[in-house]
Amino acid sequence: MTCRDVTLGYEHKVVAEHLSFTVEAGDYLCIVGENGSGKSTLMKTLLHLQPPLAGEIQLGEGLERSQLGYLPQQTEVQRDFPASVGEIVRSGCLNRCGLRPFYRAEERALAQKHMERMGIAHLARRCYRELSGGQQQRVLLARALCATQKLLLLDEPVTGLDPKATQEMYQLVSALNREEGITVVMISHDIAAAVRDASHILHMGEHRALFFGTRAEYLACDLWTGRRERGGAV
Ligand SMILES: Nc1ncnc2c1ncn2[C@@H]1O[C@H](COP(=O)(O)OP(=O)(O)OP(=O)(O)O)[C@@H](O)[C@H]1O
Ligand SMILES: [Mg+2]
Repeated sequence: MTCRDVTLGYEHKVVAEHLSFTVEAGDYLCIVGENGSGKSTLMKTLLHLQPPLAGEIQLGEGLERSQLGYLPQQTEVQRDFPASVGEIVRSGCLNRCGLRPFYRAEERALAQKHMERMGIAHLARRCYRELSGGQQQRVLLARALCATQKLLLLDEPVTGLDPKATQEMYQLVSALNREEGITVVMISHDIAAAVRDASHILHMGEHRALFFGTRAEYLACDLWTGRRERGGAV
């Protein structure tokens, strides 16, 4: 996936300009940056949920729009969603169904496989809104996996989780990247975890990207070294 000189934003508002970066198959890109810097807007633009105001986004490498797995940033309303875990995970198969209004056995089996992989198969009949935050994020990850075996886009998957659930979520995502070769693009506020797990970092600033490059390049740049000198704050 390649972004060339992309301008992000909404009808009357530019959020960021001159964004250029590439994600290769097998990469693990972490997008970091302050609240409101445009991280979620960038992800929605990569997903073609909204158009770029200028510039070009190419998916490349046989990747189709319908084959992307997305875990959206959570809001309180979504946490209250009144559906069963099984239904939510299976809804990740909807792109495979096209206009067909029901799931086939193979789609049910796929949902079951990913629920088992995420350790939530025993919760399949439970109502989503009764689950803990960590369980809910596993449900959404299983749902995203039903949509893709190639590229996962995760918008703050650990927000609101306790330290144990956070580490488990990071381990699941890293394992999907390393063991199954799934390309990962993840938005996070946890820069320490990003430099531990990711192969590449995109650091968003006000109206522009402050950095894009490999993990090693990021560790050598001012954003990281300056942060360490200031005792951790970015
Ligand atoms: N649907 C929308 N219409 C108009 N402006 C929007 C819309 N969604 C977001 N914005 C604005 O775009 C800017 C970037 O928002 P965005 O949600 O992409 O930031 P973010 O980096 O994901 O922040 P956070 O870390 O808080 O999730 C903000 O100024 C926001 O107010
Ligand atoms: Mg956001």
